Amino acid sequence: MVLRSWVIYLLLHLTGKVSLQNSADKIDSVVGDSVILPCLYENQQRSTDVLWRHNVSRRVLNIINGKPSTEKQDDMFKNRTESFPSEYSKGNYSIELKDLKLTHAGNYTCFFPKLNEKKMLQLVVREKPVEPTRKPRNSSTEAQSLKILTFLIALVGLTLHLI
Ligand SMILES: *[C@@H]1O[C@H](CO)[C@@H](O)[C@H](O)[C@H]1NC(C)=O
Ligand SMILES: *[C@@H]1O[C@H](CO)[C@@H](O)[C@H](O)[C@H]1NC(C)=O
Ligand SMILES: *[C@@H]1O[C@H](CO)[C@@H](O)[C@H](O)[C@H]1NC(C)=O
Ligand SMILES: *[C@@H]1O[C@H](CO)[C@@H](O)[C@H](O)[C@H]1NC(C)=O
Ligand SMILES: *[C@@H]1O[C@H](CO)[C@@H](O)[C@H](O)[C@H]1NC(C)=O
Repeated sequence: MVLRSWVIYLLLHLTGKVSLQNSADKIDSVVGDSVILPCLYENQQRSTDVLWRHNVSRRVLNIINGKPSTEKQDDMFKNRTESFPSEYSKGNYSIELKDLKLTHAGNYTCFFPKLNEKKMLQLVVREKPVEPTRKPRNSSTEAQSLKILTFLIALVGLTLHLI
């Protein structure tokens, strides 16, 4: 039983790198970054109200009657948001988030209450890398052989499981 779940884990681990998700609605960032969270409404109809939320309910920013409002904004977004009123007429309700912290990771929705439509995007915040290069090429020979070894072990495990 233990071996079986271990083999499954290994197989998942080995195949995981291939199945990268569609990155269209995913934004990668690093602690301290500023990012633009895009929200475009490409219809004729303009919305005067847009509600930005984090993880469904946490209040990031409201745009009410075409004006940004930080009223009842969650503390973690205080002094960190910027909206671009001059863009509203183009249906661009994107906001900027500044000085990112790890806690800012998660799902962001921009919700149009009057049109009952919303868009979601995912923000990924990573720790600042300590070294400029994450994986030096030279130590990869060792990692490579370790990978091959685990793969062989996985194959043996799978074979045992199938028998
Ligand atoms: C964020 O979105 C993903 C993908 O839609 C979903 O699987 C996950 O449960 C969401 N997380 C939260 C906290 O809403
Ligand atoms: C936000 O900025 C204002 C003015 O710059 C400052 O008075 C206030 O303390 C800041 N709030 C936070 C939570 O940093
Ligand atoms: C929307 O506005 C933001 C902030 O000014 C800008 O960075 C972005 O390029 C705009 N997007 C489009 C499609 O114009
Ligand atoms: C938001 O949701 C993500 C998962 O989608 C989670 O990792 C993160 O801790 C949540 N953040 C807060 C502040 O609730
Ligand atoms: C790897 O190490 C060799 C010498 O051991 C060096 O000549 C080469 O430039 C290094 N390659 C990288 C990518 O660091």
